[in-house]
This record gives sequence, structure tokens and C-alpha cells, in this order.
Amino acid sequence: MITYYENERLFKLDTPNTSYLIGIVDEENFVGHIYYGKRLLDAEASYLLRTQELPYVPSKNNRERGAFYDTFPFEYPTGGVGDYRESCLSIRTEGGHAGSMLSYVSHEIMAGKPGLTGLPATFGSDKECETLKLVCEDVYVGMQVELLYTAFSDVDVITRSVRVVNKGKEPFYLTKVYSACLDMDNRDYDMITLHGSWARERHIQRKPLGYGIQRTSSFRGESSHQEHPFLALVDRHTTQEQGEVYAMNFVYSGNFCAQAEVSQFDFVRMSMGIHQENFCWKLSPGEDFQAPEVVMVYTDQGLDAMTGTFHSLYRKHLLRGKYKDKKRPILINNWEATYFDFDTKKLLAIAREASALGIEMLVMDDGWFGNRSFDGCALGDWFVNEEKIDGGLAHLVEEVNKLGMKFGIWFEPEMISPDSALYREHPDWAIAIPGRPGTQSRQQYVLDLSRKEVVDCIYGMMSAVLRSANIEYVKWDMNRQLTDIGSAALPPDRQGELYHRYVLAVYEMQNRLIHDFPDLLLENCSGGGARFDPGMLYYSPQIWCSDDADAVERLAIQEGTALLYPLSTMGAHVSDCPNHIVGRVTPFHTRAAVALAGTFGYELDVTKIAREEREEIPRQVALYHKYNDLVREGAYYRIASYSQNHHYDCWQVVSEDKRESLVTFVQVMTRANHKSRRILLKGLDEKRRYRIYVEGQKPEREDGELVYSGDTLMKAGILVPDMLGDFQAKLIHLVAEESEKKGQVE
Ligand code: DGJ
Repeated sequence: MITYYENERLFKLDTPNTSYLIGIVDEENFVGHIYYGKRLLDAEASYLLRTQELPYVPSKNNRERGAFYDTFPFEYPTGGVGDYRESCLSIRTEGGHAGSMLSYVSHEIMAGKPGLTGLPATFGSDKECETLKLVCEDVYVGMQVELLYTAFSDVDVITRSVRVVNKGKEPFYLTKVYSACLDMDNRDYDMITLHGSWARERHIQRKPLGYGIQRTSSFRGESSHQEHPFLALVDRHTTQEQGEVYAMNFVYSGNFCAQAEVSQFDFVRMSMGIHQENFCWKLSPGEDFQAPEVVMVYTDQGLDAMTGTFHSLYRKHLLRGKYKDKKRPILINNWEATYFDFDTKKLLAIAREASALGIEMLVMDDGWFGNRSFDGCALGDWFVNEEKIDGGLAHLVEEVNKLGMKFGIWFEPEMISPDSALYREHPDWAIAIPGRPGTQSRQQYVLDLSRKEVVDCIYGMMSAVLRSANIEYVKWDMNRQLTDIGSAALPPDRQGELYHRYVLAVYEMQNRLIHDFPDLLLENCSGGGARFDPGMLYYSPQIWCSDDADAVERLAIQEGTALLYPLSTMGAHVSDCPNHIVGRVTPFHTRAAVALAGTFGYELDVTKIAREEREEIPRQVALYHKYNDLVREGAYYRIASYSQNHHYDCWQVVSEDKRESLVTFVQVMTRANHKSRRILLKGLDEKRRYRIYVEGQKPEREDGELVYSGDTLMKAGILVPDMLGDFQAKLIHLVAEESEKKGQVE
């Protein structure tokens, strides 16, 4: 709910458990941030703007206008006239000047949530959310800035975005446009970010917030393996179960910057938006620029509650398409099975064996097109290599379909190999700085998607392949980051737009794809998980989490990913051993237990693995069918983190009605001569009694294992005996007694 208090000149945005207050101040109509936190009953907190203290407001003390600018908690700070903290908006006029300051002009409160032109964004019906549009201006620049806030009524989320319009007579340049800012008092915060590398994505980092600017960012042209468009400030005593959390997540897949700055007076400014590096957007009179959306979550119930809020928001208000709430087909991908060395015969041999074991879809990965026999050529030549795919693609797909399996295919549409027919014909289609040799990465360049003819040509080739056979899944890959930012088609004063135009074009292409092929299951991927972000989730309900599918490496990767994103979105497979990335050998059942926390599938040559492993696959397939509804739809709780304790990992999912729960326990390192571990469960109904089953273990009693109340299981916990050997896993299933009686749960 959003209310405007006219006398107080104050806006109050309420979600079920939080309030957000904005005040209009002084005759110059500065827009101030008053409060964000636990829900307030009234709207009396404008004293927090500290306008009754020195330096007061400029109309009372113009002598210290600079001090006012440098201390006032702005909703959307601008730079160049006195606020020395990190600003959200920087401009350059034709005269080369940079200063700006915003004043409130008008507002509109509307039911629902408008879409953002060209950009992914969360959505909600008129009943589920309300939106405030604050219109501000800088008359000296001729600039109008619209601040958009949406408050949801079913989740504790406020989203923000910004639109800048040139209302003047001369062009000006946007050199920075962030999307959200929170000016707060510093209360001894820790800062949580996600960091990583290829094959090591989204590890959680927590560290104390100190003075100055602390930042996490990417200007690699994508959200990246290395850092993540997420930032949380949490009370130093916040745990999984309790304590304050302020979190921001960016619904964008390109360059980003997320930062917290503690200033001289112990104020903290938290902000997020498109990275400033090489960003310069020309706004001619009448033109506008839409900045992407930031999702803000506040809770005083700890990190589990923050996670629950993000998961609910993304499930209900971001994911789209036929598969968003559906069980996904169990796939087998040939990448680690064959790499580039495959043909129709090999693929069909894998498919035959896989279908007999219950696997539901064959995905043909990189190497089926042009003359691609290794990773150094043919990107851009999207026509089937019939020497490999002898008999043609339609034939292969028909044969796979005859086995009762679906068929999926891999593309890397954003790239061009210097050794390709496409590059020979259109060398200027690669992003490059004129006269300077481009930096190759995986022996490839990035296509200049800011050019419509490039997008149309690639999309044309892709869609022709997709129409040529019954293809039901696409893996959209992107295997290098951007360098040498230059477009042969943009004028010099618009080269700084290329990074963002590139991302907009990726969105446009994916939009076209899901519009033209509405039944397609799209999985995004970027050299593993370099573009696992809410922006891409708007187009694909799942994203390949990491090229590292080792069960132990995946614990930290999936823990960090699940901190924000629903388990249904995490691409996770059982892969071959010794693991191709780290060489580790883990038991087959442990690899499955970890992959069951995601979309689930296989990434190995099923004709070559050990017989015992092959025989285990139907049991794993059965586990997927038994538990996937729970995993996809249930509430997720983090019980223990291997990254923190270096011994074991544990997470839990609980059905919405709390009648059923699955606990996954992974004992990474075994211990000599130890007692069992005590695990406190979460999210259960304290009054219900739960029967406990351990997968693969015969119950000690005929009617299942022990029965305990949810109260006992959550407060006193369960005991998990140590297992013999490293890398062992246990799936513990809890079923509420009366559900069993009613036959609601098998
Ligand atoms: C990177 C992906 O993450 C892999 O799964 C595979 O598709 C390769 N690219 C193919 O080049």
C-alpha cells in the first residue's frame, strides 16, 4: 500500500512487514529518505531527516548549503554541487559541465506495476502491488527524472527504477545512472556479497563494513562469474534465523556496480546500478533513458527470511513461460561425454541407453554446426554439419523422439569466430576498436548486437534450425566477456552506449525466441554461471549454475546461488568422475543428492560409466520424480554450510502446507571416533508429528522410522550418524503423520 500524507509531504510505502518513508523537504523540494525497516503503524518519522539540526535546510541557512548537500539523506543523490558521497546520477552538458540537483515536481500513485521498456522486470497484478512515480527535475539542465517505486502486498519487496528524460533544448550526456540508493545511519553493518571465478561462481563473502566506499562490480559486459549484482548490509549479529538485513539485487545482466559507503558522520549510503565504466549515454531533446530495476528486501528475521522473500518474488513475479512452475524433463547433455567428438551414431547410442534408464531429453551441446571440430572456429555459422549429424538434424531428432525422449540443442548466438564464414563476410560485425587488433578470448570475438542487421541475421539462422525439427529445449551459451568496446555502426558520441545496447539486444533476441517458440524450454548459460541473474531469469526459468559439477565444489556454488534464487532455477547435473574440472572422485549417489537440489540431469557418457552406476540411475530418476515438486515449490532453509564449517553441508525444503520436508545432508569429510551430529530442522509445523525416513535405508520399524513433533525437531533437532568415507550424502524425508493416513503423501 502506498499513501501520500499531504500535510507532512510524506510518502509511506508498506509491504506486509516493512515500511519505506520518503519526505519532500524545504521550499526547494528536496526528496529525502526517511526510513526503511520494520512496518510502522504511523508516518511520523520525518525527524530522521535531521533538518532541525545544523546545517538546517538551505532556505534557513544558505551559508551552509554545501554542508546540507553533503549530509542530507537523499532518495536519489546527484553529483557536482556539494554532495561528495557517491552519487547516483552524473551528467555532462554540451558545455562540458557536470553538476545537477533534483527537486520534486509531482507524483502519481497507481495500482499494479508498469513494465520497463526493453528491460526485464518483476511484475504484479493491480491487487498484488502499487507503484509510486515521483517526478523530479533539474531546471538548469532541462532534465526530468522519474523515480519509480513498487511496493508488493504479498512479499516484503520494494522495487525501484529510474527514467531520465531530456526536457531541454540541448543534448546532454548521462555518465552515470544508478537505479537505487539507500541513505541510512550506520549501525555496525557487515556486508555480504557473492564472488567467484569460472567454475567457482557465487561463493558467499561476509565482512565488516568500514569507512569509505566498498564495492562489488562488473564491467565485463555481463553480470559475471567474478562478482554478483547483489549486496546485503546486515547487522553484525545477524544469523540465518534472526537479525536485520537490507538487500539489493539487480534485475540486469550487464555491467553493474553495488556499493556501500560509510561517510564522515557515520551515515551509510548503499547504491546499485549500471557500472560507470565506459558508460556515456547521449540524451537528445525529447529522448529518455530507462535504468534497470533493483529489488530491495528488508527483514529483521535473518538470512533465511531474506532468501525466502527473494525466492517467493522470483517464483511469482519474475519467472515466466510454460515451465516456470513445472517439473523439467530430466536431460542428458553430451558435453562432458564427448566434447566435440560426436556424430549421430554416438548421440543415438547415448540416447538409447539413457531412455532405457528413464532419462527424458537428449541435449546436443557445442559442435554440431559449421565446421566446428574444436572451440576455435565456426561460431556464427549456424547451419548443421551433416558430416557429423549424418542423415540431418530432423532425422536425429525423430530417432530421439522415437525413443520417447525430447531433444534439445546448444547455441552461442552472441559470438563470432575469426575463423568462420560469417566473419569472412562481415569482419565489421565483431565488437572492436577501429585500427586496434581485438583481444581474442577462447579464440572468439563478440558480435556487435547493437546493430539490427546482426541480430536479424543470427536470429534468422537460429530460428531456421529450430523450425527444422522438433526441438524442445535450447541452451543459450555465452563463453567470453566483452573487451575492445567499439561499434562500427555507432557515431563517436554514442560509443559509450554500446555495453548497454548490447544487453538490450540480448534481451530483445531472447524475447523474440520465447515469443516465437512459446513451448521451448530455454536454459541460459555463460561459460557455466557467469550470467546467472534476475535479468536472464525473466527469459529462461533455469540457468546453468557452473561448469563445475563436482558434488563438493557445487556445495558452495549452490549455497550462494540459492541465497537468492529458487532451486527450480539452478541447472545441476550428475557428471562423470574423476570430475573433469577438479579430478575429484565422489560417490554416484552423492552427485545425485546434490544435483537433486536443482533442475537435475546428467552430463556423462552413460554407455561408458560403470555398470553399478548405470543401474543406480533409475533409482535416482525415481527420487527426482518423488521429490522435485517439493524442491521446486517448497520453502528452502540453510541448516549448515560446508564453506563455513569445513566438514558438512545441510539444507532443507519444506512444502507450503508443512506436511512434507526433505533434508539433504552431505558429509564432506568424515571424522574418526565421533558421535552423531545434531541438526536443528526448520520451517516445520511445531504441532504436527513427522515420521522420518532415510532414503536407501530400511526403517528400523515396519511403519517407518521414529516420529517426533515439529516442535522437537526444530528445537532439539535430529541426530545424523557419521557415515563411513568422505563425500557421503543422506536424504532424510519427513512426512506429517496425518498426511500419510490420508494418503496425501506416498
Ligand atoms: C560452456 C558451458 O558452460 C558448457 O556446459 C558447454 O556448453 C560449453 N560452454 C560448450 O562450449
